[in-house]
Amino acid sequence: MDETEKPVRVPPQMSVYADRHNVTHLVQCVFVFQMLVSDLLIHQPDDPISFLMDELQRISVDVPRVLLFGPPAVGKNTVAKRLSAELRAVLVTADTLLLDQSEPSSQTEQVLQRLKEMDCIHRGWVLVGFPQTRLQALSLQQLGVLPEHVVLLEAPDDVLLQRFQGRQVDHLTGDVYHQTFIRPDDDVIANRLEEGRGLSEEQRLAKLQCFHREVTGLSSAYQHVLKVINGDQPHADVYQQVLAFVQTCRRSITPRILLLGPPGSGKSHQAQLLSNKYKLVDVCCGCLLRSVAADGSTVGEQIQPYLESGHPVPDSLVLQVLQERLSQMDCSCRGWILHGFPSELQQAKNLQESQYQPNRVFFLEVTDEVCLERITLRATDPISGQRFHAVAQPAPNSEVQDRLQTRPEDRTPAVEHSLEQYWNHSAALQSVYPDAVHIDADQDPHSVFEALESKLTAD
Ligand SMILES: *[C@@H]1O[C@H](CO)[C@@H](O)[C@H](O)[C@H]1NC(C)=O
Repeated sequence: MDETEKPVRVPPQMSVYADRHNVTHLVQCVFVFQMLVSDLLIHQPDDPISFLMDELQRISVDVPRVLLFGPPAVGKNTVAKRLSAELRAVLVTADTLLLDQSEPSSQTEQVLQRLKEMDCIHRGWVLVGFPQTRLQALSLQQLGVLPEHVVLLEAPDDVLLQRFQGRQVDHLTGDVYHQTFIRPDDDVIANRLEEGRGLSEEQRLAKLQCFHREVTGLSSAYQHVLKVINGDQPHADVYQQVLAFVQTCRRSITPRILLLGPPGSGKSHQAQLLSNKYKLVDVCCGCLLRSVAADGSTVGEQIQPYLESGHPVPDSLVLQVLQERLSQMDCSCRGWILHGFPSELQQAKNLQESQYQPNRVFFLEVTDEVCLERITLRATDPISGQRFHAVAQPAPNSEVQDRLQTRPEDRTPAVEHSLEQYWNHSAALQSVYPDAVHIDADQDPHSVFEALESKLTAD
């Protein structure tokens, strides 16, 4: 039985219930559980525990989302089918969705609906045959369908036209083979193959031309995740290259950066520089809490008293606000830089267990003396709200200079206290992020930025 053929659907009344009572995650858990049980029954593994561990890892957040496209007859459906079996992801094809029978205007919606079903969410998907135009690609992107890997299979036109001719179809499974390029391993299959539907020479050329019109636009829509692979090679080689691409780069595509370091190490400034240059979303936890507290929402009202009294906002609230922010479209499309959270072990663990683990973690390292000097020399102009620094950014004139004020949290005792707090938790934080990169932040901001950048683009 082919398990990929039977999508697990959340019954609509259950989705409505889940939304209304805010238990979407619970409902997802129930479905994950059902899926695990059915996988156990199907595979009957010798070692169920380690099988389940693998399954859980597989269905966790980082599921494959692969899009394959290419000219007709390049072999993309065959590659997609094998790839989805290997990755145990759901194969979604234009053919199985019967897209060619529906209105062009509703095709995007149809694909979206399919990809939002539970099996696709938990197992991931390999999409082939759609989108066919740049416009379709962009509207999919706007709806939040963001493949992590896009493969363009290419081959010269004469090769493609030749392949059209030797096409054979297995009418039992719908699989496409070819007299010379893709032979079935199984003799039983080989014997029942029939010649493919005969397209006329003109129809073939028209299909090819249609592809050529769209290929540049499609490629540019996906340029940041695109790999072009030569489809004019033996099928096994093509497949291996696609598989290698899909496996090696997972996780590293959308940067989810976490900046850690003592107060005064320059986290905010570096986050701003990274955000400007790489268009990542700058998520400063403190600023986020303040803006939510001010927005009048229910969560905001819960946060407000803590901020006013200067007490730390409870972890569960902070995490809720962060998850809400990081799940928004700009963060999932462009990636993000988080700073100001986590500051201790339990927070870091909670973040690791959420869907929003960072994939690059940096510790900005500076000595306490430097931090103290940097922070205690900060001053604020009460009139303009502008911030200055006695050494790095002095006030423009003596009038401003004279009215500058030091914020209570920038005074020496307060800074010493936060430094002590930081060091009390820093070893524990490092233990959560053993692969973190440590950057010497006792340099001018530009050099620190260069050091960060070199590590960002290293892999
Ligand atoms: C740091 O840890 C020490 C020892 O556990 C404790 O006495 C101290 O209060 C902590 N400091 C802060 C600021 O949390």
